[in-house]
Amino acid sequence: MPLTDKFGRAITDLRISITDRCNYKCIYCRTGNDGAIYGDLPFPEYLRMARVLCGMGISKVRITGGEPLLRKGVIDFVRSLAELRNTQGEPLDLAVTTNGDLLAEMAQPLKDAGLNRVTVSMDAVDPDRFARITRVANGYHNVLAGIRAARSAGLWPIKVNCVLMRGFNEDQIIPFAMFAREEGVVVRFIEFMPLEEERVWAPDTVVPLDEIVARINEYRRLVEIPHQRSETARRYRFEDGIGEMGIIAPVSHPFCGRCSRIRITSDGKIRTCLFSAWDHDLYGQMQRGASDAELSAFIRDVVQRKEERHHIGEPDFVPASRTMVHIGG
Ligand code: GTP
Ligand code: 5AD
Repeated sequence: MPLTDKFGRAITDLRISITDRCNYKCIYCRTGNDGAIYGDLPFPEYLRMARVLCGMGISKVRITGGEPLLRKGVIDFVRSLAELRNTQGEPLDLAVTTNGDLLAEMAQPLKDAGLNRVTVSMDAVDPDRFARITRVANGYHNVLAGIRAARSAGLWPIKVNCVLMRGFNEDQIIPFAMFAREEGVVVRFIEFMPLEEERVWAPDTVVPLDEIVARINEYRRLVEIPHQRSETARRYRFEDGIGEMGIIAPVSHPFCGRCSRIRITSDGKIRTCLFSAWDHDLYGQMQRGASDAELSAFIRDVVQRKEERHHIGEPDFVPASRTMVHIGG
């Protein structure tokens, strides 16, 4: 029986955060300080959760954080995940979302362990601007080296996520379009969502999809290309065939009706939406000795309670019970 929620959405994508520590302090995500962390679990605990969920209809697993590559043992974890199969007996689509800082040395081992692809967060293509956004010095060159190492290792397609924030980096749109073409990566602009620690979000900090498309079209014409139903990004290619861009527009064009995702936090809680007001203690069930069948029943019940949609920008918006660094993106 496929895992579906009460709105008929099939849940096929799982994101597991393996740490909520991060070595970057991006202004749209963190405060400038270290802040509290919820902590993490031994890898076999995540692996059991993933195995149970793959038996219920999950076919795509994304490892997130914090910064997942900070966690020792992540390569062996990928190797274990790569042995799992979906209900059709097929290997999983396995991806990591990373800030890219440690990717240069880890791309090939990750590929060898069975990872399919990576998404790298990168919010400027200029070293100084990059440092101002991430609040770390010299990160830009590490990330660039990481992206190139991922390409050499065949972690394909490489997606680069850029969160646009009015006044900080919307002037990076054209440089990123050039970057996508030169480096052969899919650059995706993301509308800024209210999930940050420092409460800086306001409607006018969002650079909306229509404006992004208009700005890129002034540089070179984009042609929209089809995307999969549950995909977060609208996809575009350049008219001359060189380069692909994506725009993730949860604020101006919400995609909740097509959502196929659930998340496990680093401390083992299920979140049914980025904007959930509470989470569900899967690890607590495991600690109480639940069998796999009992975990499945728990998950099925939780999925039934998946929120219909987020309420960003509406008067009744209630901030999520966790910020992005403690959820995983
Ligand atoms: P693939 O298509 O498998 O590569 O993954 P993806 O498109 O889901 O990409 P990714 O995991 O990189 O998600 C990109 C970004 O989209 C996230 O970092 C979030 O900012 C946003 N996003 C992802 N899932 C959701 C969601 O369920 N709701 C909202 N509002 N935003 C989301
Ligand atoms: N709004 C939109 N995207 C965000 N990300 C982090 N915080 C936000 C936010 N407030 C993105 C990062 C990274 C992914 C994990 O989530 O850029 O690519």
